[in-house]
Amino acid sequence: MAAAGPRRGAGSAPALGALRLVLLLGAALGPARAAVYFQEQFLDGANWHKRWMNSEYKPDLGKFKLTAGKFYGDPVRDKGLQTSENSKFYAISSRFKPFSNKGKTLVIQYTVKHEQKIDCGGGYVKIFSSNLDQKNLSGDSHYYIMFGEFSYFCITKTLHSFTVTF
Ligand SMILES: *[C@@H]1O[C@H](CO)[C@@H](O)[C@H](O)[C@H]1NC(C)=O
Repeated sequence: MAAAGPRRGAGSAPALGALRLVLLLGAALGPARAAVYFQEQFLDGANWHKRWMNSEYKPDLGKFKLTAGKFYGDPVRDKGLQTSENSKFYAISSRFKPFSNKGKTLVIQYTVKHEQKIDCGGGYVKIFSSNLDQKNLSGDSHYYIMFGEFSYFCITKTLHSFTVTF
């Protein structure tokens, strides 16, 4: 599973960046024998809604939208999930069959595009255990691996409201 978010803005501070992600997960012995366990390129229009579940762990979470964004190489192939509003938390996940990569190299790839300068916020991709309650996905959900980046400029501005920890 993978999730992006949370992201938050700092009051009147300049807003958050937009996030686009594509995930590819494989356990590879060698290029010729690589098995792909999860791949999401958002190439089938609105069908992504069937594969991705929004968290409802709190009522005011932001909604993702599918778009190629303001700039792209290809208007169809470069579509991804984008945050739709600034100063919101986002959490969404998709499921794949449990597998073991014991004795094999695990490769995880994703692409993120930022269209705004992120003044205060971050975006993460996490791999969770298969018993994750997707509807209750939050910063407290137990995960195995996390990738992402975070802007620390906001900490000095909004330390009092900084409650999410990973
Ligand atoms: C949702 O997750 C939180 C934090 O992990 C937990 O405390 C809470 O019991 C969960 N709620 C439900 C309905 O499972």
